[in-house]
Formats: sequence, C-alpha cells, structure tokens
Amino acid sequence: MTKKFLALCLCCMMAMILAGCGGKQAAGDGAGAGSGKGMKVGVSMPTKSLQRWNQDGANLEKKLKDKGYEVDLQFAENKVEMQVSQIENMITKGSKVVVVAAIDGGSLSAVLEEAKSAGVSVISYDRLIMNTDAVNCYATFDNYGVGKIQGQYIEEKLGLKEGKGPYNFEITTGPLDDNNVIFYFGGAMDILKPYLDNGQLVVRSGQATREQCATLNWDEAKAQERMDNILTTHYTEAHVDVVLCSNDSTSLGVQSALKSAGYGTAGKPMPLVTGQDANLPNIKAIISGEQSMSVFKDTRALAGQVVKMIDAMAAGKEPEVNDTKSYDNGKKVVPSYLLPPKFVDKSNYKELLIDSGYYNEAELAKQ
Ligand code: BGC
Repeated sequence: MTKKFLALCLCCMMAMILAGCGGKQAAGDGAGAGSGKGMKVGVSMPTKSLQRWNQDGANLEKKLKDKGYEVDLQFAENKVEMQVSQIENMITKGSKVVVVAAIDGGSLSAVLEEAKSAGVSVISYDRLIMNTDAVNCYATFDNYGVGKIQGQYIEEKLGLKEGKGPYNFEITTGPLDDNNVIFYFGGAMDILKPYLDNGQLVVRSGQATREQCATLNWDEAKAQERMDNILTTHYTEAHVDVVLCSNDSTSLGVQSALKSAGYGTAGKPMPLVTGQDANLPNIKAIISGEQSMSVFKDTRALAGQVVKMIDAMAAGKEPEVNDTKSYDNGKKVVPSYLLPPKFVDKSNYKELLIDSGYYNEAELAKQ
C-alpha cells in the first residue's frame, strides 16, 4: 500500500466519523464495524465516589481498547467545571467521539458547541445532556421503567391493590439537575399516586414533590441528614412503613438514619426500602434484610451498546436506536437506545448477579 493510499483511507475514515449519528456509510470505504484502530474516544464520567461510575468507566475503557480504540477516561469528582475542562481537553487532544455521563445535564452547552465545531460526535451516557443540539445520540436504561419497578414492588408487597393500609410512606429521590430523576420519580409516582390520593399511603412529613424529596448529587450523607430530620420531627410516635429511595446511595443514607432511630431492632422492624443500581453494599443489605429491593442495570450491557454506537459512527453508519420519542432535551429529541432494567431482591439476586458473573460469592461475603 502506498503512503498516498493510506492517507486517503485515513481521510475517508475521519469524514465518516465526523458525520456522527446522521452519517451514512460512504460507498466502498472498507471501514467496517470494529475498525477502531487508533481512533481516540473520550469518556467523561461524573465521579469515582459511586461504584457504578467506576464500573461504567472500566467497562467502556476495556471494551473500546479491545477493539483498538485509544481511550481518554476521566472522572470529574462531581464538579461541573472539572467535567467541562476535561471534555475541552479531550477535544483538543484529538478525541473524535466523546461519551459523557453529565454531572449537571444543563451545563455542557458551551463545551459541546466546541465539540460540534471541531466535528466531534457526542454520545450522552446514562443521563441526558440538556439544551444543546450538539449531542448525537443517547444510551441509557428505560428510566421510567426503573421508577415503575420500584412503585410496583411497593404496591405488591404492601397489598395496595387489595386495599390494605394506611401505611406511613416517605420519599427520597435524586438531584433536580439529573434528567433521569424526572423519569424515576415519575415512573414510581404514576403507580403510587392513587394510593396517596385515597389515603392508603400517608406522607407524614408532607414532603412528596420531586423538589422536596431531592438529594443534591445523590449524596448518601445528605439523604441521611434529611431522613434524620423527618424521623425526629414526624415519627417520634409513629412508625415509618415504607421509603421509596430512587437509588442505592440515597437508600444507604436512609437506612443509616433508620438504624440510628432504632429501626431494625426487636419490635421496630425496618420499613420496606427500595433502591437502584444493585451496588455491592446494597446487595449485602438486601441479603441481611435492611433493604428490600434494588433495580439492576447491567453496566456491561450499556457499555456494549455504546461501543456499538461508536463502531457505527466510525463506519459512517447510523447508530442503532430503539426510542425516538421520549428524550427531548429542549433543543431536539435525542435518538436513544434504552436497555431494560431488572428488579432484584433476595429471591433472585443469585441468578441475576452471581450466575451472570456480575459479582462473585466472595465479594458478597466480604464484610
Ligand atoms: C443514574 C443512577 C445512579 C445515580 C447516581 C443516575 O443518573 O442513572 O444509576 O444511581 O445517577 O449516580
């Protein structure tokens, strides 16, 4: 092969990458799926402080490297400015695609404008990036489905359909700047709202809106502090029967508050407590009975889907999506691929998490 021919091939490949989600494969280009050789991909994760983002980052890095991509993986300590400057660096250092799990979905418009001008394609990862047309596509789980699974679990376990109750009910959800929370909270409340309206579920704190139940940065300590306050103000006499927690970090905070208030001891059982992510400490809590359930979102599958999207972009093809309606970011409806979330509790964690190799017995046994 001559140098000239090689240079031509390189130019073709670049042109196809820059076409991003909207691009079609150029005739006779020869760049099939998986031809990642040397192409740089930036991966911007929000924080290392939560198990899932470490797994997400590691899975993506491994799968991309296995296909010959060069990977620039960064974590931003939940600091928006840090994430912005990391993405800027990815662009200047030559990433052709950046994959971003946003800290604040609404704060990336300016830096993604830079990406767009530089011809860099952007994949929104797990959380939707808002108010920009510079995002090409979105890979996530069925976030509304996550909330529904939590709501249905509460409905079923408490016998709400059969008219049982009243039960004392509290809610903890995630931050207002995470678009997913609208879906988690909405999905759960669409199931549970009728029972709030007819008095089968009673929120003694009176805090039942997304704003009132929000937790900044999904922070465990903040969720604990809020639940401490609710318990001391509204539950000195009454017993809380159920707490809807949108994810596992807030769930752990709530569980700590409950335990310090004496729940989980004789005569004062732990309430039904939900979660999401199937994090290790939470699966241990499910086994020991402190948490009732979680929602398993297989981060390996999400990484796999993103790699497929990048392969398609590199080949100048349209990435595969299965939802073109649900995720309007204020500037465009972002073509999305939604993976199915799965309910996990004591009855099925072995099959779902151990048999699939997500965890091993030793990890779950470790104190
Ligand atoms: C993710 C959850 C995660 C939460 C906190 C959400 O956007 O979808 O899986 O628990 O952020 O990091």
